[in-house]
Amino acid sequence: MYFTSPSSTKIIPKAGIIPQHVAIIMDGNGRWAKSRLLPRIAGHKRGIEAVRTAVKACIENGVNYLTLFAFSSENWRRPPEEVSYLMQLFNTVLEQEIIKLHENGIRFKVIGDLTKFEARIIESIRNGEQMTASNTRLTLTIAANYGGRWDIMQAVRKMYVQAPKLTNNFVEEDLSQHFAMSYAPEPDLFIRTGGEKRISNFLLWSLAYTELYFTDTLWPDFNKDALDLAIQSYQQRERRFGRTSEQLQKLK
Ligand code: IPE
Ligand code: IPE
Ligand code: MG
Repeated sequence: MYFTSPSSTKIIPKAGIIPQHVAIIMDGNGRWAKSRLLPRIAGHKRGIEAVRTAVKACIENGVNYLTLFAFSSENWRRPPEEVSYLMQLFNTVLEQEIIKLHENGIRFKVIGDLTKFEARIIESIRNGEQMTASNTRLTLTIAANYGGRWDIMQAVRKMYVQAPKLTNNFVEEDLSQHFAMSYAPEPDLFIRTGGEKRISNFLLWSLAYTELYFTDTLWPDFNKDALDLAIQSYQQRERRFGRTSEQLQKLK
């Protein structure tokens, strides 16, 4: 018996009017700052405001899972000053916001390779996850030093450690139970702000049947209206999961 959420390639998920899980690539902080002749880090700072707004708007809309891509496994390639500022910002946010998340009934989770972070960041993450573990209003997942390929690789490693005798007859669930976000359903709606139309190594496996939404709005400008627009776009989609439109009409 596995405690993983259903796979969209095994079972056709029930798609409600409100996406149960929204996953966002928060992009465009640097350009937001540049257009105001500010240093890039000012954009990251403003991005935190947009995170607060998005969390609130998701709760108001009845979204159950919000996953935010905060730092990719490739973002270490940035100038050391920017990486160092992002780490500081992450640390400050963890120290200041976890209590507020808890008071608001939000479960906090982090996915990614945490081994690269400073000890105090790892400790704040673990404390925050433990403190908020039984909250049910919204699960907020921050993807930090996350990469879709890292996730698949670490899951394969865990699968073999747990069941070294597995040979060529393993099934999807043998692997998927080890994905970093196996506690959540697959995302219904993916949003990328900042105008780029790419996945940038985000949730490669679980985006299989996710509806994709791209907006030119830069992350610091992404507000409740912008989220509502994304949800409205989602509501126009016909989620067929491989079937024909006619089959879906018959089910109505
Ligand atoms: C996203 O904004 C935040 C992180 C990747 C940490 P960017 O910093 O990528 O902003 P742009 O894309 O340069 O505008
Ligand atoms: C993706 O944004 C990662 C995050 C938002 C954390 P990037 O700005 O790093 O993506 P690329 O380099 O434009 O693909
Ligand atoms: Mg970017």
